[in-house]
Amino acid sequence: MVSKIKTVLLSEEQLKARITELGAEISRDYAGEEPIFVGVLKGCFMFMADLLRSVDLFCTMDFMAVSSYGDGTSSTGAVKINKDLSRDIEGKHVIIVEDILDSGMTLSYLKHYLSVRNPASVRIVTLLDKPSRRNADIVADYKGFEVPDAFVVGYGLDYAERYRNLPYIGILKEEVYINE
Ligand code: IMP
Ligand code: MG
Repeated sequence: MVSKIKTVLLSEEQLKARITELGAEISRDYAGEEPIFVGVLKGCFMFMADLLRSVDLFCTMDFMAVSSYGDGTSSTGAVKINKDLSRDIEGKHVIIVEDILDSGMTLSYLKHYLSVRNPASVRIVTLLDKPSRRNADIVADYKGFEVPDAFVVGYGLDYAERYRNLPYIGILKEEVYINE
């Protein structure tokens, strides 16, 4: 697997340091509150596990699963809810946890989808932000890193469901798109 990675964009050390800062920032902003973190599966799983270990708050967690991409590397624009929340969020402070904000279609849809259930607030924390590709009117309240317009994998992010288990964020060799 590792032989298919062209470059390491963000190392394990860089991820750890920044995610610890994000956790501290969220802990300060929500002091005295009990937010609910809503992870967007599957991409969020590694980021959410590390982020929440740096959050010093009473909090709860829930997960949603959505599909927007199929197996390819460019957006179809359509968002499908494959798994909804298991608990009510009315009156709660919701923090959506995403792996990457790309076109913004997924998060703008999700933010609206959750907002109509009358939560106290809805904010977004994303590990990565690719602002160059945005075509929905959405910004992240908290973001780990801005990344260039390249398809990245690892640390939860996939290409055709593979590479999620890489411990860092990398860029795939072009041969992968052609031969697989
Ligand atoms: P958006 O709706 O275009 O913002 O796309 C959001 C989703 O597309 C993310 O949650 C990812 O699952 C996927 N995605 C976008 N860019 C990348 C990438 O560079 N690598 C892996 N997945 C990506
Ligand atoms: Mg994906």
